[in-house]
This record gives sequence, structure tokens and C-alpha cells, in this order.
Amino acid sequence: MIVVAIDGPAGSGKSSVARAVAAQLGFGFLDTGAAYRALTWWALDRGIDLSDEDAIAALLDAFPYSISLDPVSERVAVGEVDVTAKIRDPLISLAVSAVAQNLRVREWMKDSARRLATTSGFPGVVAEGRDMTTVVFPDSSTRILLTAREEVRIVRRASELAGRDLAETTASVRERDAKDSNIVDFFTAAPGVTVVDSSDINFSDTVSAIVDIVRAESDL
Ligand code: DC
Repeated sequence: MIVVAIDGPAGSGKSSVARAVAAQLGFGFLDTGAAYRALTWWALDRGIDLSDEDAIAALLDAFPYSISLDPVSERVAVGEVDVTAKIRDPLISLAVSAVAQNLRVREWMKDSARRLATTSGFPGVVAEGRDMTTVVFPDSSTRILLTAREEVRIVRRASELAGRDLAETTASVRERDAKDSNIVDFFTAAPGVTVVDSSDINFSDTVSAIVDIVRAESDL
């Protein structure tokens, strides 16, 4: 079972790059941010105060989370509710960092990601997030930090979020990276982690660069 661990900041393109890498290799794709988003959606839906760490942690005992690892059709559900689109709402993006800073949540997420990867049914999994290379899959054969210069990340994010202006996107990307990096440092590569900087290369070259690294490192 091969795990390709990819971390990076908001707007580095890691989700779409990781998904395309998985599709090319015939691997599963595990978007670990989706679980943090789904838990945030569930907490808000139940009217729970996100700063109440105990109340959020208590939700984990019966969090009915599911995600498909198929790189061509991601589906995320909480119980019977399909939250695939709901968790991309800018309100969730704004609120999710509070939930991601809860250490009991992070512990649950770590176990959940490992379980999802080992039971995926795919020959390998590309797992993407903020702590894949350092905490969740520190022993995986390929570990990558996907970065891009801040101005490039902001322009990419703004074009994803149609209707948002650059100043607003700049503020939100900076705020989220600042909050998220309180807990895990996803700007610096840990020892043994390969840095791929996508600032000056296009999407398909970024995907090919990572596929080449995986092939070289895991004898595929
Ligand atoms: O990658 P994303 O924007 O969907 O992530 C949503 C949030 O979850 C983000 O605020 C960072 C957090 N996160 C995390 O702390 N650790 C992960 N492995 C994945 C996401």
C-alpha cells in the first residue's frame, strides 16, 4: 500500500494537483481538509459554538462522516446528508480553522485518515492536507510540500471564487494561513520532504513532476 503525502498552504493548488496525480496513477485520493470542513458544517448545523472545544470534541463520538476516495467523483456525507457542495461555502472556509485547532479533533482526524487510506481498496492513496508529511503519514515513501509564492496563490484562489475581489481574497488567504499555521508548519519542509514550487510551472507540469517523483521513489 503506497501513500503519497502532500501538504501545502491555501491556494497552492494541492487539491486539484493531488486529485490528478491520483487519477494518473490509478490511486485513491484523500482530501483530508474535507473532514475538518464536514465537522464544521455539522457543528454549525447543530448550533454548536465553534470555540467550545469540549462541545466540538464531544461531537466526534458519533460523527457519521463518509468520503469516497474516487479521484473522479469526490462525495462527502455526514449521515444521510450529502455535504460535498455545502462544505465549500465561504462561511465554512472562514469558520473551519477554529475546529482545526482543536487537538482532540486533530487526533480523531489522524486516526480516521489512516483508516480510510488502509481500507481504500486502491493500490495506493494520494493524501492531501496540512500535516500529511509530518504527523499522519510521516513514514510514507513519497512526501511532498507543494508551495507557490503568496501572490500566485492569491490570484489562483480569487479565480476559483468567482465574484470575490483580490483584496478580499488576499485578506482571507492570509488570515487562514496564519491561523492554520499556528498548529502545523506547512510552509517549511520537514527533513526528507521534497519541495515542489508550482509558482512558475503550469498545472499539468506540476502533476507530471509529482508523478515522476512517486514513480522514482516507489519503483512503480
Ligand atoms: O485544505 P482545506 O482548505 O480544505 O482545509 C480546510 C481546513 O482544515 C483548513 O483550515 C486547514 C485544516 N486542515 C488541517 O488542519 N489539517 C489537514 N490535514 C487538512 C486540513
